[in-house]
This record gives sequence, structure tokens and C-alpha cells, in this order.
Amino acid sequence: MRNEFIDPALFVRNRQRLASLMSNNSLAVVNSNDTPPTNADGTLALPTNSDLFYLTGVQQEQSILLLYPEAVDVNHREILFLREPTALAEIWEGRKLTKERARAETGIKTIEWLSAFPVLFHRLMCESETVYLNSNEHKRAVVETETRESRFVKDTLNRYPLHQYQRLARLMHTLRVVKSEPEIDLIRKACQITEDGFRRVLPFVKPGVNEREIEAEFAHEFIRQGGRFAYLPIIGSGSNACVLHYLENSKRCAKGELVLLDVAASFRNYNSDLTRTIPVSGKFTRRQKAVYQAVLRVLRASIAGLVPGKTVATWQLEAEQLIERECVDLGLINLQEIRRQTPDRRAVKKYFMHGLGHPIGLDVHDVGFTTQPMAPGWVMTVEPGIYIPEEKIAVRLENDVLLTENGPVDLMAGIPIEAEEIESLMRG
Ligand code: GLY
Ligand code: MN
Ligand code: MN
Repeated sequence: MRNEFIDPALFVRNRQRLASLMSNNSLAVVNSNDTPPTNADGTLALPTNSDLFYLTGVQQEQSILLLYPEAVDVNHREILFLREPTALAEIWEGRKLTKERARAETGIKTIEWLSAFPVLFHRLMCESETVYLNSNEHKRAVVETETRESRFVKDTLNRYPLHQYQRLARLMHTLRVVKSEPEIDLIRKACQITEDGFRRVLPFVKPGVNEREIEAEFAHEFIRQGGRFAYLPIIGSGSNACVLHYLENSKRCAKGELVLLDVAASFRNYNSDLTRTIPVSGKFTRRQKAVYQAVLRVLRASIAGLVPGKTVATWQLEAEQLIERECVDLGLINLQEIRRQTPDRRAVKKYFMHGLGHPIGLDVHDVGFTTQPMAPGWVMTVEPGIYIPEEKIAVRLENDVLLTENGPVDLMAGIPIEAEEIESLMRG
């Protein structure tokens, strides 16, 4: 794998895969995201549109991909529209994609400036039967702002009310959940950077260290290697570890506490997702270790349980049953509570209240139809936990695992996880 850019063969293949799913005489359009504004005249970093990236490798604002696999004019089968570079934009924002560079990076032959879009789009709309438009169909997405894509959808439906429309997201989810070799290599690289960050942090953590200083250590390692935080890091010590989405990262870690590190890198937009829980003092107490080993057993069993054909719901239930038993052994749940529970009010939920894992890829919680059986090529996180706020103990462990026909491949198998290894590395 080359580190500086991704071989365009990946994007060429992805477009071919999409074309093979599109119906007769249809076209599809994918837009970049908007650049989010801050207050006053500031902007935030452009959030890469994962579908556009998957199909082109492009992460530049105001870009539009138009695919029309059966267009009569072969030059219209794949068209990428880009913001035309100007001298002013170059002074303020730096170099933008030229047509030559865009051709080389995407493998698309027809590159047009954005100003050509309305006329060409109209012409191709008049030739096509069916139109695939995109939207965020992640089941848990809460979208309160109108996206560039949703404005485009509204405008297109308004201008061309008599076309047949289809949801592109259905096809994108089908494709993106199954990772190809180059994508797996990129996720492996993200896992490697994550491992280096974690190994850097292990001897650094001591009583008195602030959670934010740990974050800074991860940032140093990730950024120097060309990675980024895949998501906002969760660094929770003591009872903060029980807050599932704790983001403050501002407390001093105290002697005797555990600190939960849900921190991972992305590389070239491909994400990893890691959680480790370590003792601030460098040594687990007997009770902490008992909870730790319980979670580690469930992690191992759940990794082994990632077999094609199983649904996520079944996999989750299997883990909940294991955690239930572990919670009984830890004295957290008694048998009477188990006898009284109903399928939708399980006693274990008090100590393990979240999903066991999710697909990961260009998005951390990646797209994919998770009600359908899992298949080879899926990369799933495996993240069991036991949270005991009354004891200020929380342990979550999380690895990323590739499903194959020959069994699961743990992409984080090299990242320290045994309690003794963690303790030894913390001693430095
Ligand atoms: N770090 C987010 C998650 O584990 O899903
Ligand atoms: Mn995580
Ligand atoms: Mn996760």
C-alpha cells in the first residue's frame, strides 16, 4: 500500500460495482458536503462525504459526481464536476484539484468545472429513465441541518417531478459494508497508528496525569504518522469511565482508579475504533482485575462468534448471556433477578447497556444493513463492557475484526490487552 495516496484502481472498481447494481438507463449523482460555518467568518474543516470518497477519492468542497453507465456518449458515463481553481482561491486556500490531477487520482476521464453542471445535467436527465439520489439513511443519524445533498435532492425533485427516483443509499450501504483488500489495508494502517498511540500512552499514565494530557499523547502519535482522531476521544478516569460518551477529558487521574481510553486513529478517511481500560497506578486491584478478565473473556468469545450468516442481533444476545453469567459471578446480579427478567427487560442491561459492535470503515459507525446476516468482508467492532457506577469501575474493551469465510481476523490482535502485559508496559 502506498501511504501518500490511494491507488485509483480502488475507486474505479467501486464505481464499477455501483454501476452493476443500477437499473437500466439510470443515472446517479453524489455531492460533497457543505463546509460548515463557525460564528462570524470562520469555517470548520470540510467533512469528507464518505460516498463521494468511496467512488472517487475526492474530498474537495463543491464537487459533484455524475454516473450514467449507459449514456450514449461514452464521455458522459462518468463525469466529475469540480470547483474551478482561481488565483484568489489559491492564495487563500492553496491548490485545488486541476483536471489533470483529478483524472490521475480518480481514474475518471471526464472532468468538468462546476459551471458546466446545469446544462449537462439537464441533457442527461432528459435521456435517462431513473435517477438515484443520495441521502443519509444511517438508522441512528439525527440530521438537523439541510445538507448540500438534501438541497440538491429537493431542487431536482422540483425541476423534474416526472422522473422515477431511487434511493442511492440502499446501494451504497450494500457496497460499503463489504470491504475490499485495499480498504482492509487502509483500516489495518489506521489500527497500526492506533496501536502506536496506545503504546506511547501506557508508560505515560500515572496518578496526577490529566485526562487531556493523555489525549495530547495520542494526538502527537496519530498526527505525526499522518493519521487523525477517528472520533472525539473518550478518556474517562474513575466514575467518568461510566459515562458512555464522556468527552470532557479534563479530570486528573487518581491513584487506584481505572481510566477508560476509547481512542483511535483514522488514516486516509478509513477508521479504526479501539477501547482499552488501564489502571492509573499501573496495577489493577483484585476487584478491577476480576471485572477486566470477565470483559476480556466476553471480548474473546464475541470475536470468535463473528461468523458469516449470523445476525448482529443474535451475536449481541450471545454476548449479553455471557455478560449476564459474568455479572452473576461478580456478585452484581442474582439468580432471582434473572428469573424475574423478561426479554425486553434483561437484568444485564443495568451493567451492559449498549451495542456489542458496529460495522466500521469510511464512517466509524459505518453504513450497512445490520439486520441482515453478516458476511465475509464486513469489519465489525467488538466492544463488550461492564459498568458499575456504584464502585466507580467501568471496563470496556474494543477491537476491530474482519469477517472471513475461514473465521474472524482480529485486526487489533497486536494491541496489548492481557492485564499482565498492560501492567508490565505501564512500568515502562
Ligand atoms: N468510539 C465510538 C464507539 O465505540 O462506537
Ligand atoms: Mn470506540
Ligand atoms: Mn465502537
